[in-house]
Amino acid sequence: MNLSSILEKMEQGITPDIPELVYLLELPDGMEKDQLFAAAYQTKLKYVGNKIHLRGIIEFSNICTKNCCYCGIRRDNHKVSRYQIPEDDIVTQAMAADQMGLGSVVLQSGERSDEAFIALIERAVRRIKQESNGRLGITLSTGEQSGETYQRWFEAGAHRFLLRIEASVPELYAKIHPPDHSWEKRKNCLKLLSEAGYQTGTGVMLGLPFQTMEHIAKDLLFYQEMNVDMIGMGPYIIHKDTPLAKEMPDFDPERQLQLGLKAIAITRLLLKNVNIASTTALQALHPQGRKYGLLAGANVIMPNITESCRRAGYLLYQGKPGVNDDSAAGLEQLKREAAEAGEVIQWNEWGDSPHYFARRQG
Ligand code: 5AD
Ligand code: SF4
Repeated sequence: MNLSSILEKMEQGITPDIPELVYLLELPDGMEKDQLFAAAYQTKLKYVGNKIHLRGIIEFSNICTKNCCYCGIRRDNHKVSRYQIPEDDIVTQAMAADQMGLGSVVLQSGERSDEAFIALIERAVRRIKQESNGRLGITLSTGEQSGETYQRWFEAGAHRFLLRIEASVPELYAKIHPPDHSWEKRKNCLKLLSEAGYQTGTGVMLGLPFQTMEHIAKDLLFYQEMNVDMIGMGPYIIHKDTPLAKEMPDFDPERQLQLGLKAIAITRLLLKNVNIASTTALQALHPQGRKYGLLAGANVIMPNITESCRRAGYLLYQGKPGVNDDSAAGLEQLKREAAEAGEVIQWNEWGDSPHYFARRQG
């Protein structure tokens, strides 16, 4: 087994086997790892160009009915003071994103499935569409819901949805979630989302306790099997007020960062024309993390445009960057990073996944 033969295989569209994917994931720092990133960047240029698509992310509520063992805003973390941004403010913030030229927004929150929550999102989406004259693209990241709810939100005007599977191997999923969280239900939600017509995104955390390289290899094959349009994955980062924190006493930020970057590169080589986010968790581990993500094959950045006063309430993990920044400062930094990476920001565009259109035609 060697790097060139695996890369050649992938270029021909042949899916590597699990040991080959593990070989890539385990590449140590050095020439071969650099070659992997360079090959992924070439694939990115060929299929999606040196373009960055932006989505302004609005974390509109940290109220969550779930209790994921890794997440800082899980239901049982009583140290968190909970907030819900009112509908009018969600719309105002989205319109500010429109003014900034971001082209699209992501509405993200903890998970709730009560009618008040469903109706709030439905109205907010409708108003954002109306008030932006249809200009703003809207992605939702609001958790597991019924097919009917997904449909209501789609009809209101949302067209993309992010729902990370978190771990594609059910045994690992079970180790990082309480027993009443169902992997099957979550997987089925991905199917419901595609059926409702959304461009669908999923992803996992990398470097989780109990996670092996085989697990990650299977995650990448899961993306392929599910035929998803978008990938959002990032390194796991400890939050001290969660049950999972004690499982990783030897947290190594550099290892987490490199694993995150290698997973992006291999995903680009494997899936080619999907949108892949360079996630905030990369930036949390290294001041240049997000730029490294772009150079490893990612093509989407999601600047946080949540009102500054709310940001401290949405700490999924420790060291989340931007807690004290305002949105304008964040955008200036992003422009610098894009220029350094030789990438071109696409202002005022939705930046849909080419894979979605290929899938619909295919
Ligand atoms: N480290 C990294 N990512 C996390 N998320 C939640 N908690 C953590 C953590 N401790 C991710 C999950 C979720 C997304 C919104 O944030 O993957 O889907
Ligand atoms: Fe809630 Fe999402 Fe955190 Fe799980 S990861 S506890 S669903 S906010």
